[in-house]
Amino acid sequence: MSTQYHAIAIDGPSGAGKSTLSQQLARALGYLHVDTGAIYRTVGLAACRRGISMEDRAGIEAILPQLDIRMRFGLDGGQQMLLNGEDVSGEIRRHEISAWASAVSAIPAVREFLLEMQRRMAREQNVIMDGRDIGTVVLPDADVKIFLTAQPEDRAHRRYLELLERGQQAQEAQVLRDVIARDEQDTHRATAPLRQAPDALVADTTGMSREESFQLLLKLIRDRLGEGGGAGDEK
Ligand code: DC
Repeated sequence: MSTQYHAIAIDGPSGAGKSTLSQQLARALGYLHVDTGAIYRTVGLAACRRGISMEDRAGIEAILPQLDIRMRFGLDGGQQMLLNGEDVSGEIRRHEISAWASAVSAIPAVREFLLEMQRRMAREQNVIMDGRDIGTVVLPDADVKIFLTAQPEDRAHRRYLELLERGQQAQEAQVLRDVIARDEQDTHRATAPLRQAPDALVADTTGMSREESFQLLLKLIRDRLGEGGGAGDEK
């Protein structure tokens, strides 16, 4: 029996539905879902709490050795983030932490700090990992790579509904401006920018319902793995 597992990489801009769909796909396939954005959000929260300026790269780098970041998975596969032992899963979802996550994720030392943690997860089980650089940097040998995208207006609308659902105040026009600003920052940063891996399958879900998007991705994955090709089994 080989110890190598299957890995599915889902990359794409913010609000494309990566986390929700990956979670649903992971359940259908019996894989572990790893939301890597949550790890950057945890570093962003730590910097925000310490009152460091978003532009202060050296200051952010300096706190990295003080951060013990861990992931814990519930029985339902839900991912919790622990920052120095404290469960920050709810707090990292605050709207203002998105900008912090984007700022810290542009710092090479932060990406380096988190790289091995992400790769280790994929060495230990079948994973569906979503982020921005999973297919290009973190898991370049992933069995399936999907670049999930949708028009900014669609993505902003979904994000807006999500925020309302969580009881947060939001204005759709502002959410759209934030989505566009984050796209710009995530695509144009020097280190591990958001880009499509040459061997990624593109899924544009503009105008699709969640169920339609889910069915599209499930089909892409099953086709790529080969029907009955071992989804859920070890290689
Ligand atoms: O997916 P998200 O919105 O939770 O991600 C938060 C930020 O983290 C986003 O601005 C991009 C960044 N990120 C990244 O640079 N690389 C990843 N693999 C995942 C997220």
